[in-house]
Amino acid sequence: MKPAFVFGTRPEIIKLAPVIRAFEERGVKPLLIHTGQHYDYEMSRVFLEELELDGIDYHLEVGSGTQAEQTGTAMIKIERVLMDERPDVTLVQGDTNTVLAGAIASVKLKIPVAHVEAGLRSFDRTMPEEINRILADHASEVLFAPTEEARRNLEREGITENVYVVGNTVVDAVLQNAEIAEKKSDILERFGLKPKEYVLITAHRAENTDSRENLTKFVEILEALPIKAIYPMHPRTRNRLKEFGLWKRISSIENLIITKPLGYLDFLKLEKNAFAIMTDSGGIQEESIILNVPCLTLRYNTERPETVTAGGNVLVGLEKERALGYLQRLLKDGEFYRKMAEAPNPFGDGRAGERIAQILLELHEKGELKVRSSRFI
Ligand code: UD1
Ligand code: UDP
Repeated sequence: MKPAFVFGTRPEIIKLAPVIRAFEERGVKPLLIHTGQHYDYEMSRVFLEELELDGIDYHLEVGSGTQAEQTGTAMIKIERVLMDERPDVTLVQGDTNTVLAGAIASVKLKIPVAHVEAGLRSFDRTMPEEINRILADHASEVLFAPTEEARRNLEREGITENVYVVGNTVVDAVLQNAEIAEKKSDILERFGLKPKEYVLITAHRAENTDSRENLTKFVEILEALPIKAIYPMHPRTRNRLKEFGLWKRISSIENLIITKPLGYLDFLKLEKNAFAIMTDSGGIQEESIILNVPCLTLRYNTERPETVTAGGNVLVGLEKERALGYLQRLLKDGEFYRKMAEAPNPFGDGRAGERIAQILLELHEKGELKVRSSRFI
């Protein structure tokens, strides 16, 4: 069997690594196609190195651009590779432009698509990611939903066949790397941080960074933080802060360390030892509940509602009073802190990668891995 993996950004590399490994452990060598949506060393290569994905078969060098430029260029380049290679299945993960491009290019060549992390919905169609998720799910033949809630979202849209609830591969990634991170990373020493005495910040979503008003609100939250914080900054945010004239303001916040994006091992160690995490990232909302760290999400909705229901995550948006109110409560109320930190992980047991590989191998063996003319027969 010949599976092709199409990926291009930091979270895709991290969350697909366990699936790639699971295929390799079953004697199957997957074809690895990197679109180059992320291209800086610290947004891409560092993860390939740390997760030992050294055999990339195709680097497509798509790079940055508008939504259509990036997606269109990726589609054209992915199509060429798929036409030459004719894999049995194309795997994509998540909701980026790379995912949309990979899914559409593949299904139109009648190469079935398997979507890892299918069925997530923020129910906010103004987010580029929501459009990507919906379209990728509808182009896919096999859907790996991380949770029952994700499966129900697919069912609501009429997608019921070849849907498998397998857990989220983020758990596999965390379990495979947290211990290594704890031993290998000296990130706390490097920045003079003590365990549970700092907040970890990340923000990069278009809705938070592309508007001057929202980015200003974000900076105002950081200016009022009552505790030390560290912010490994996504290049998108760095660029916008400079463009909107906010760079000087953010870099003069005394309690805040700003650093370039970090490798996975350093970042995992920072997450695990944080007092709390404030983020707009999807993957980091998941990792914080897995690592038992309270999460305050700088968004008004989430496609990971399981984290909120479980009690480990609160949506605070960009509302300063609300965000700081929750942070103060975590600082002062030990019982409240304990409840958030001990919220149960809703994303499975860390064997999602194995299940995905196994299911695809079995479908292939039975001759059922193909694009059917209709889902509804
Ligand atoms: C993309 C995904 C988002 C995901 C994120 C993971 C889409 C629509 N968005 O957002 O869902 O959460 O990846 O991090 O696919 N840049 C660099 N160096 C890089 C990569 C990007 O400087 O290596 C800068 C460029 O100025 C670029 C901007 O960041 O224009 C945005 O990059 P892009 O890949 O378009 O989107 P992300 O914000 O990274
Ligand atoms: N991450 C990392 N270094 C960083 C920031 C994030 O290794 O400086 C990892 C993080 O552990 C998680 C993933 O990147 O696994 C999340 O990526 P991101 O927030 O960019 O994207 P999203 O999950 O929102 O799509």
